Amino acid sequence: MKAIIPAAGTGVRFLPLTKDMPKEMLPVVHKPTIQYVVEEAVAAGITDILIITGRGKRSIEDHFDRSLELESVLDNNGRQKELDEIMRIANMATIHYVRQKVPRGLGDAVLLARQHVGNEPFAVMLGDTINLSAVPVVKQLMDVQARMGGSVIAVEPVAREKVGDYGIIKGTQVSDRLYDIDDLVEKPSPEEAPSNLGITGTYVLSPLIFDCIERTPPGRGGEVQLTDALRLLSKEEKVYGLQFDGRRYDIGDKLGWLKTTMELALGDPDLGPPLRDHMRSLMERQG
Ligand code: G1P
Repeated sequence: MKAIIPAAGTGVRFLPLTKDMPKEMLPVVHKPTIQYVVEEAVAAGITDILIITGRGKRSIEDHFDRSLELESVLDNNGRQKELDEIMRIANMATIHYVRQKVPRGLGDAVLLARQHVGNEPFAVMLGDTINLSAVPVVKQLMDVQARMGGSVIAVEPVAREKVGDYGIIKGTQVSDRLYDIDDLVEKPSPEEAPSNLGITGTYVLSPLIFDCIERTPPGRGGEVQLTDALRLLSKEEKVYGLQFDGRRYDIGDKLGWLKTTMELALGDPDLGPPLRDHMRSLMERQG
């Protein structure tokens, strides 16, 4: 299976941090956010990845590329551990790139993958969403898709006041964690939301989605929404929602990003203990 990583968004919620830096390159402890996403795909056995980029996103390509100069500096200085790590990053997958020339929305970005994907189911993994789980979340979706066919998207319950940040599904529960979706709404108000199950940003989609995107008019924010195209798809084929096992880290805004960074740093064996001491003394000082 191939994976598509849309990473063309403008990162307005992070300005001025993202004026000249892709939000997908924001660091979360040891690595940029998008590296977590590529590593999840690789852990699921996916090695053909297409990243949808855009203007100002070139550092993403450089991050996953070889850097002969840096390699030779590390080699000359005997920094074998660091050398192994940057070689691992450059070699872990075959990564292709296509640019979304105009920011017309997530649906439009996914449509750019049509030629690369062909007529097979494929994964979509948002470039600013980190999942941490024993079995990669995308693999959990792939397993359900192999069993049930159709398309499978990751969902989780979200707080009522947060439904307006997500695509929200309406579905019939078919087993413990699986829903047969019959409607989806992009970023509804709490009153309009058909449930509290939010789309978290990992999808395994039938190639029929491309036709549906083509038929989808611009929706919320004047952009072609993937959620609206999924709504059309759900009228033609099965679309399931899977409440996956694992944790999704919401790094869509500054507070979410800070919380994620803190939580993952506290869980790090080297950084965690001294950071905990530092935070304790900070709290004491601030009363
Ligand atoms: C996108 C999708 C939305 C989904 C969300 C998850 O919105 O359009 O359906 O719930 O990702 O993060 P965005 O956060 O890019 O505005």
